[in-house]
Amino acid sequence: MEKTFVMLKPDAVQRNLAGEIIGRLEKRGLKLVALKMLKIRQELAEQHYGEHVGKPFFQSLVDFITSGPVIAMIWEGQNAVQVVRKMMGSTDPQAADPGTIRGDFALFMGNNIIHGSDSPQSAAREMSLFFSEAEIISYSKDLEAWIYGTN
Ligand code: RTP
Ligand code: MG
Repeated sequence: MEKTFVMLKPDAVQRNLAGEIIGRLEKRGLKLVALKMLKIRQELAEQHYGEHVGKPFFQSLVDFITSGPVIAMIWEGQNAVQVVRKMMGSTDPQAADPGTIRGDFALFMGNNIIHGSDSPQSAAREMSLFFSEAEIISYSKDLEAWIYGTN
C-alpha cells in the first residue's frame, strides 16, 4: 500500500487544528503508520524543501517551518499521495476549494497549514528524512475490508 509523508505546519499546531486534520485523514480511511512532534532545525528544513533553494520565498519558508513545533506523520492507503494532495487543496489557500484543508482553514500562502508529498518519490525521500524504518509501524485494521470493498 502506498505511503505519504504529511506534516502539520507550525500554524496548524498553534491554531489547535491538529486533531481536526488528523480526524479528517482518519475518517477518509487512511491509516496512520508513524507520528512525531518535533521542532525542525534549519538543516532539516533546507533538506526537506531542497527543491525550492534559490527561489524568492525560500528563506521565509525555512523561517516559518522552523518557527514552532510541527507534527510529522506517515499515512498509508491506496494512492495515498494523490488522495492527501487533493484533501490539502491548492498551495495558495485563497485559491483552494472549500472542503479542502487549506480551503477551510487558511488564507495566506506562507501559512498554509499542511504539507503533503507531491509524488511517491518525494514521499520516499521525505519519510527517510523524518523517520527511521523502525518508527514506521506495519499493522492491519479489520475495517480495511469495508474501506476497499474486499470483504
Ligand atoms: P508543501 O510542499 O508545503 O506541501 O506545499 P506545496 O507542495 O503545495 O507547494 P510547493 O510548491 O512545494 O511550495 C512549498 C511552500 O512554499 C510556499 N510557497 N510560496 N510565494 C510563492 O510563490 C510560494 N510558492 C510556494 C508555500 O508555503 C508552499 O506551501
Ligand atoms: Mg511541495
